[in-house]
Amino acid sequence: MESDVITQAVSERYARAVTNGEEMCCPTGYNHEDLRTFIPEPVLKVSYGCGTPVGLTTVQPGETVLDIGSGGGIDCFEASRRVGPTGRVIGIDMTDEMLALARTHAPTVAANLGYPETNVDFRKGQAEAMPVDDEDVDLIVSNCVINLSPDKPKVFQEMFRILRPGGRFSISDIVSDQAIPNYMIYDKEKWGDCLSGALPLHEYWGGLRDAGFLGIHQVNLIPWRVIDGIHFLSITLTGYKLTNPQATSLAFATLKGPFTQVTDERGHTFKRGIPESIDTQTATLLQSPLYDGLFVLTETPEKFTGSDSRWSEVLPEDTTCVWDGHFAMLTGPFLEARDDDDHTFLCGVPLEICSKTHRVLQHATYQPYFGVINRASQPGSHEAIICEPTGGCC
Ligand SMILES: C[S@@+](CC[C@H](N)C(=O)[O-])C[C@H]1O[C@@H](n2cnc3c(N)ncnc32)[C@H](O)[C@@H]1O
Repeated sequence: MESDVITQAVSERYARAVTNGEEMCCPTGYNHEDLRTFIPEPVLKVSYGCGTPVGLTTVQPGETVLDIGSGGGIDCFEASRRVGPTGRVIGIDMTDEMLALARTHAPTVAANLGYPETNVDFRKGQAEAMPVDDEDVDLIVSNCVINLSPDKPKVFQEMFRILRPGGRFSISDIVSDQAIPNYMIYDKEKWGDCLSGALPLHEYWGGLRDAGFLGIHQVNLIPWRVIDGIHFLSITLTGYKLTNPQATSLAFATLKGPFTQVTDERGHTFKRGIPESIDTQTATLLQSPLYDGLFVLTETPEKFTGSDSRWSEVLPEDTTCVWDGHFAMLTGPFLEARDDDDHTFLCGVPLEICSKTHRVLQHATYQPYFGVINRASQPGSHEAIICEPTGGCC
């Protein structure tokens, strides 16, 4: 379908929704009681996001935040509160009716926050060509919008362009566990419902990486709907536009675990306990809080084994295994990761797992790196399988 046909259908859908005050999309987890203290009810009524703007909790006073597809303005107004009167917020939306609602209520929000004037600038524009200067923004947020774009690689490139080095994004969006079939893609109405444009998670993640982002990882993942066997998930992802590498004497990284092997976003492979030489950019990346607890960074190579307190592993229980429909998806920050039972997880690609592996991935050290769905349409007899003595049944 032509891009402009999709864009027009999406814009008309949201113009209609905001005009009718329609309820749409997904539960978001906003604390409306709290937001009601400074955001007018008509804005809260058209909250059409699919996640919580968790990235906003990292906002520092004085920062510049940009919201892609700002709708009625809910995330912009929350950002406005957090950046304080010295910070700035930019909301971009292509739908006049949405912009009108947001602009109408901006002065009330400013007054409720005790600001002399609003610090939110709602601009009309497309996510694929944002009316924003290069490197003008500290944090990009977006809530259930990028799936609606017919040209997601362009949106990701634009995000990279407008973010300052060291800046970050935190976006909630709808993704799928597999490619969307043509009968859904060619259904204009389903675009507006956040279904037709959903990318499989591995493509979404890959698009962000191709645009130049690093440290891309899941903050939250909630299964949303299953339609014709396709799982639609609400995911919140964060990632970084790294600063130029800092000079450092740290020249080696040793993986502590719990994975036995990982491949990072720049294609370097690390095996648990084996030191690998790293360049300054990887050293900068691995020092970010996201990698806390995963690597030991040293000036000289440091090898360690299972008897070392830094070694981390989660072994499967020595018990029977049941195939009950679970599939695990690695959700970053690695391209590829291997566990102690020799499963190789590729980022965003569902891999069928048995009950034993499901339990392993629920361990606190693994949980942040995975999303799990269940593709079994009905409960079955799910016979327990006796594993081989080596434990390699699955
Ligand atoms: C599902 S609503 C979400 C609104 C808001 N983020 C929220 O959480 O309530 C999608 C919004 O994105 C806007 N939008 C969709 N595609 C867009 C695009 N390609 N460029 C700019 N805005 C877009 C729509 O006009 C609509 O206001």
